[in-house]
Amino acid sequence: MRLIEHKKEFRKALIEWYLREKRDLPWRRTSDPYSIWVSEVMLQQTRVDTVIPYYERFLSKFPTLADLAKAPEEEVLKMWEGLGYYSRGRNLQAGVREVVELYGSEIPQNRQEISKLKGVGPYTAGAVLSIAFGVPEHAVDGNVMRVMSRLLLIEEDIAIPKTKKIFESVIMELIDKKDPSSFNQGLMELGATICTPNPKCLLCPVRDFCEAFHEGRQHELPVKSKKTKMKTVPMQVFAIRNLQGKWLMKQRPEKGLLANMWDFPMIENDMNDVEDVVRIHFGMNVEHQKPLIDFKHIFSHLTWDMTSYVALTDEDAPEGYMFFSPEEVDGLPKAVPMQKIWTEAKRKEEKNSSE
Ligand code: ADE
Repeated sequence: MRLIEHKKEFRKALIEWYLREKRDLPWRRTSDPYSIWVSEVMLQQTRVDTVIPYYERFLSKFPTLADLAKAPEEEVLKMWEGLGYYSRGRNLQAGVREVVELYGSEIPQNRQEISKLKGVGPYTAGAVLSIAFGVPEHAVDGNVMRVMSRLLLIEEDIAIPKTKKIFESVIMELIDKKDPSSFNQGLMELGATICTPNPKCLLCPVRDFCEAFHEGRQHELPVKSKKTKMKTVPMQVFAIRNLQGKWLMKQRPEKGLLANMWDFPMIENDMNDVEDVVRIHFGMNVEHQKPLIDFKHIFSHLTWDMTSYVALTDEDAPEGYMFFSPEEVDGLPKAVPMQKIWTEAKRKEEKNSSE
């Protein structure tokens, strides 16, 4: 059966399967548009299992648009800690503030206006419009492109940004006007559970409509060109404690990688001795330096190859840095690499004091 000639049957098969088989996920139990917005932002680039506890905690801390709008940004980053792509959290708050200030706390219900909100791209706009408001709009992410590339045997390279437009117009042709929420979530669910990179076609509810399956080419799709190899940057990090038991930290710039998060002093690898490195780069003297932990941290576009140390100082903080008590360090938003180092530094301290 050709999908384009049997749209009605396709919608019916997809939606009936979705309503019967859908996973019971927390954001599927609510009709609150704000909660659905939060879930869709978290679900970009992050797996469902990882998102669930973050979603629950975030919404108990900020149950409404108003609560999130008035929270200090640092609390938002703190709730996002460990989820990665922190600009998502900051942009979500900025977008929510715009809704409160410019739209009387009502999220706009059309693509044109909702897309003006900070952090709301074509995917988030379509997901919130269709799921929360029942507006027939496309919500195309990588999973949906995989599913549709197979169903319609679309061989365009999905690594090229403009390819997404092809899929968006395909969805606008196909979408169910009566239940766009189940239609879009049905495609997402299919991509997540059945039409996976290694697809389980024998379980597929829309196999009869699938051109790739018909031709036995499902494994060849989607076409995705390889990215250039990821850069690895060696980094050295220094957890430096003073005689009052406080730790030296610095806030990252407000733009760029891990914006506004807090770091221990850190530099790209320098082959000199630790003591010299700290004096040269941070202008302070340290002693009793010891290795802490070494590990790799993979970002989407780059890997940090981390080497870390603890050290002691009796000097004041250099410019741009501040000392914080352990409780204060706990409270500052830190990216995962710094959290790892902090956990290890505390463990070492406890061990030393009990010896
Ligand atoms: N991925 C993106 N949006 C989703 C949703 N609403 N449910 C499950 N997975 C998703």
